[in-house]
Amino acid sequence: MGASGTVVILAAGQGTRMRSTLPKVLHPLCGRMMLGYVVDQALSLEPSSVQIVVGKGAEEVERRVRGAFGERPFGFVRQAEQRGTGHAVQCALPSLGGGPALVLYGDMPLLRSETLRKLCDLRARSGAAAALLTSWPDDPRGFGRIVRNSSGESVERIVEERDATPDERAIREVNAGVYSFAPGVLQEFVPSVKDENAQGEFYLTDVAAALVAAGREVLPLVVDDIEETIGVNTLRHLAEARAAIQFRILERHLEAGVQIEDPSTTFVDWNVEIGEGTTIFPCTVIRGPARIGKGCEVGPFTHLRPGTVLADQSEVGNFTETKNAVVGRGTKAKHLSYLGDVDIGTDVNIGAGTIVANYDGKTKHRTLIGDRAFVGSGSILVAPVEVGADATTGGGAVVTRNSKVSPGETWVGVPARPLIRRSEDATLESDSSRSSR
Ligand code: UD1
Ligand code: CA
Repeated sequence: MGASGTVVILAAGQGTRMRSTLPKVLHPLCGRMMLGYVVDQALSLEPSSVQIVVGKGAEEVERRVRGAFGERPFGFVRQAEQRGTGHAVQCALPSLGGGPALVLYGDMPLLRSETLRKLCDLRARSGAAAALLTSWPDDPRGFGRIVRNSSGESVERIVEERDATPDERAIREVNAGVYSFAPGVLQEFVPSVKDENAQGEFYLTDVAAALVAAGREVLPLVVDDIEETIGVNTLRHLAEARAAIQFRILERHLEAGVQIEDPSTTFVDWNVEIGEGTTIFPCTVIRGPARIGKGCEVGPFTHLRPGTVLADQSEVGNFTETKNAVVGRGTKAKHLSYLGDVDIGTDVNIGAGTIVANYDGKTKHRTLIGDRAFVGSGSILVAPVEVGADATTGGGAVVTRNSKVSPGETWVGVPARPLIRRSEDATLESDSSRSSR
């Protein structure tokens, strides 16, 4: 077990400033709820347990966390009324156990595990009652300010922006909102926190001054990378956090040998695998879960949606959308296609403008396209349909539902039917003689 002990995640807040009906911690960031990142941070510390304080949308938050993480050592604590961060921790006191405690806010998805470890180690090594993360942002917008003691080495108190004097507001060092506490400290000091402040709330941050008054020490640990301390209070902060997380995801792929021509217009969800030597061209959106093989080309202007699997060396080009689509090795769908609920074999050519019409208004159906098939430009495959190996559909063919284009056959027309080159079929005969000239 690490020095973190129990990790308490505060996730009950109203999120009023988000102006959104969704509970704040469920807002998506690169395909994952914000709280998912925070739970990952907590689990990475190998804590004795993780206690999540829930309030707004409690059932939904619990369901989503259990759905995403399964049966881990989670406890959910209900905070029926949101009366402040101190009150939220108060609700969790009975579930804390005897060891140290790390308190995280559910709206801080960018903290790195190493930073949290450093904080817990500092507290454990120094014997301080508490240690907390601080930072020096250019704009201390809305953060609590850190008042240091006369030596400048430890924290005297934290003052919330709304309660700060002009002098205190001028302080640029802010409270990041992450705290490591020695065993027993929360149990001893949280119950006496008062709500006599501008917001009429119980502030967890007041524990700092209470500790100092009792002759205990509170140590600051400055985080250099400001990005880590982004706390999401508004949709604007959410957009900032999204951009930062997106960049981290792209960085991971770049380091793994994925060529991303323009990271600023490439959007890849957190749960997408991409093989070495694949190139992603600009203005591409890849939603997860999705898996892309090695040596593929994706984009520009491509939208890969959940359930897309591209085998090695396949190419999906501009204005093509895929969803629940398995695309075989060496297969190409380079232009203007919709490929939904489809299994496509190897070395298939999907002509420009091909549409797999997977939805009949009630149900979605699957389509199969065999190896080396040639789907002509503008074909519409009305699912469920099977196009056999080495089969061809002509340009503009509409292959109607439940059709089976047998291996090697060519189907043309609307509705599409097999092309049979018989001598009495003058039109097709002359067509084919013309094209062979
Ligand atoms: C808090 C800090 C502030 C710090 C900032 C860093 C306090 C009083 N202030 O302010 O010093 O600079 O974070 O981002 O702690 N929550 C509950 N129950 C409640 C209230 C809040 O669970 O009753 C949860 C929220 O869901 C949120 C977290 O606690 O995840 C922080 O609350 P928030 O209201 O966002 O605090 P800030 O105003 O950001
Ligand atoms: Ca916040």
